[in-house]
Order: sequence, then C-alpha cells, then structure tokens
Amino acid sequence: MKKDERRLKVGILGCGPIAQAAHFESATKARNADLYAICDVADDLRNRMAATHAPAKSYARYEEMLADPELEAVVIATSDSFHVPATVQALRAGKHVLCEKPLGISVEEVESLREVVAKSGKTLQVGHMKRFDAGLQSAKSFIDTEMGELLALKAWYCDSTHRYAMTDAVQPLMVKSANARKPAQDPKADLERYYMLAHGCHLLDTARYFGGEIVEVEARLRNRFGAYCWFIDVAFASGALGHLDLTVAVRMDWHEGFQIYGQNGSVIGKTYNPWYYKTSDVDIFREATGETTRILGADGHFYRRQLEGFADTILNGTAMTGADVEDGIASVRGMAAIAQSVKSGKSVKLVDVTGSV
Ligand SMILES: NC(=O)c1ccc[n+]([C@@H]2O[C@H](COP(=O)([O-])OP(=O)(O)OC[C@H]3O[C@@H](n4cnc5c(N)ncnc54)[C@H](O)[C@@H]3O)[C@@H](O)[C@H]2O)c1
Repeated sequence: MKKDERRLKVGILGCGPIAQAAHFESATKARNADLYAICDVADDLRNRMAATHAPAKSYARYEEMLADPELEAVVIATSDSFHVPATVQALRAGKHVLCEKPLGISVEEVESLREVVAKSGKTLQVGHMKRFDAGLQSAKSFIDTEMGELLALKAWYCDSTHRYAMTDAVQPLMVKSANARKPAQDPKADLERYYMLAHGCHLLDTARYFGGEIVEVEARLRNRFGAYCWFIDVAFASGALGHLDLTVAVRMDWHEGFQIYGQNGSVIGKTYNPWYYKTSDVDIFREATGETTRILGADGHFYRRQLEGFADTILNGTAMTGADVEDGIASVRGMAAIAQSVKSGKSVKLVDVTGSV
C-alpha cells in the first residue's frame, strides 16, 4: 500500500484481541500513519506482537511509551474501564488519542474528559468506526445536503448466535496471555451491562450520526432463552421520532441496519458483521428522480479508514468526521439513560442522567 511522506507516529496501548484483529493492521497499512510503538504489560504477548508487526519501539510500561518524544498519538485498545484514565494520561503527556469505544463506563468520568481535552489542545477521537463505513457516509452526506427534514429513524443492531463461527473464520488466530492486565471485575460478569457497553454504544452512535442529538429515551428489555432484547423509543432534539432495537443474540445471521424517512427521500441500510470488512448496502431513494442509488465502497476497512481520518485531522487540520469527545459523552449518557429507563419503566432525559451504565 502506498504511504504518504508525512506519517503520524502511532503507539498502540494493549496487544489484546481488538489490537490484533484491527489496530496493528490498520496502523501498518494506513497511508498516513505508522505503527511506531506497541505497549502491553504482558511480556509474552507484547514480544510475540512485536515480532509479527515490527513496530520501531515496544514498551511494557505505558508511562515509558508516553515519555517517548517521537510518539505523536496513541490508540487505546484496552478494557472499557481503563479508557478514561489512559486517555487522560496520554493527553497530559501531549499525545493525540484515538480511544476505543465506549469512551467510558460512567457519565461522570466521561464528562470529566471534556476539560482535559480542551486544555490539552490535542485531538481525541472515539473508535466508533462505523462512521468510516462508506455506505453510512453516503447516507450522512444525503441527509446533510439533500434529504430535507427528518421525519423518523429506525435502527437495529442484532448480534448473531453464529457470530464466533463467523469471526473465527476471518480474524487472525487470537494470541492470549495469562499476564494480561484485566479490570478487577470481569466485564462479562453482568451481561446486560456488557452488551449495552459493547454493542449499544455502536447503535446509539449510528442513530446520532444520522439523526442528531438524542434528548430522551424510553426503553423496555426482555430476557428470554438467554437472549436480551431492548426496544428503545427515542426522541431527537429535532423532534424526529426514533426507534432502536438492540438484540443479543438473534437466532439468525448478523442483523444490523437502519431506515430513515426524510422529506425528499429515504434511506435503507444493511450493515454486515464488521469483521467481513464489507461496506454496508445503503440504498438512497430520491423523491425528485424516483431513483435509488447505492455506493459500492470497495474499501471496507473501517478501522484503517478511521485511523487515516484521525491522522488527517492531526496532520492536515481536516475536519474530524469521527466521533469526538461530545459524541463519546452522548453515547455513554444514552446507554446510562436506557439502563435507568429499563429499571424505572419511565422515560429518561439524557441531561438528567448520572452514574454508571
Ligand atoms: N470497535 C469495535 O468494533 C470493537 C470491537 C471489539 C472490541 N472493541 C473494544 O476494544 C476494547 C477491548 O479490547 P480487547 O478485548 O482487546 O481488551 P483486552 O482487555 O483483552 O486486552 C487489552 C490488553 O491491554 C493490556 N493493558 C491494559 N492496560 C494496560 C496498561 N495500563 N499498560 C500496558 N498494558 C495494558 C492488557 O495487558 C491486555 O493485553 C474494549 O473497549 C472494546 O469495547 C471495539
């Protein structure tokens, strides 16, 4: 792959599954970035990844990686509860940050980031990589320039019971280590919370990417035969109606997509399991011409495209099209509001919400 002359020197914190499946390859393939450093406390894992991906530097301690004057940016690829502290450390060390989603696990901790980002003068982007799916980008461009008023939006994100058969077939074999640093509490101990943090944050970000600010949610949850289904009524600030469906896991293929009803046309999208690196099928219907168009999006590497967008913002001042700190905060507020609405049976305003997801 052709590389630009000026490239962002990126360090990746964490050599776990997401780094192995997405970030190492993204940094080595990116046109405008290099895999400058990797970091993991687990020596066996880090050494194996260093041998495979050949970064210039390899660090056991995060502080040491951050103290490297040549390092320009970090990708935070660790467990959710480490995101905010690791982001703060990097910004204070003068490094730009691409932090995996969700930005954090409580409203208060993500709110605290706003000021740290502003003071640092550095770029913080959140890893809502679906914003770099060319299909979703084509819908966004239609919404912003041609669609007129939004009437309603429906979006669904339904993980499949067959997802590991699918991902095992296409991802590299994951290298694990008994020495990896994990949070004190196993994130999968509470599946309701884990599914919301892992998957719900994507659904909320997609809804906000298209529909704008969400102000209120009313959510119901059913748990049957081990499957969790959230149906969420959403009020957008624009007055448009929204309905979100998060189901983990459906007894069928991966099922993700959206429908958007606008003044001058409509959009229907089908999104694939991300590890297939296949751009969503997004059909845009224009009322004026009576025609439907669909972009091919031959380059479906959302994670590499996300890193390239991040690097473009830093190196060339290109406007950020990824999720910024406000988007990251809004997604966490949305998840916390959904959890509270499920508990109380009432609708919850996002401005009122506090506490953990
Ligand atoms: N965008 C997506 O599609 C997507 C998909 C899957 C996972 N994710 C996100 O990725 C993150 C999880 O990644 P994972 O499953 O690879 O995590 P993991 O916990 O399995 O691995 C993280 C690695 O980081 C290391 N580490 C943690 N803190 C460290 C520190 N301070 N210093 C040095 N090393 C440290 C650990 O030793 C571990 O090896 C989650 O936030 C998850 O939401 C995103």
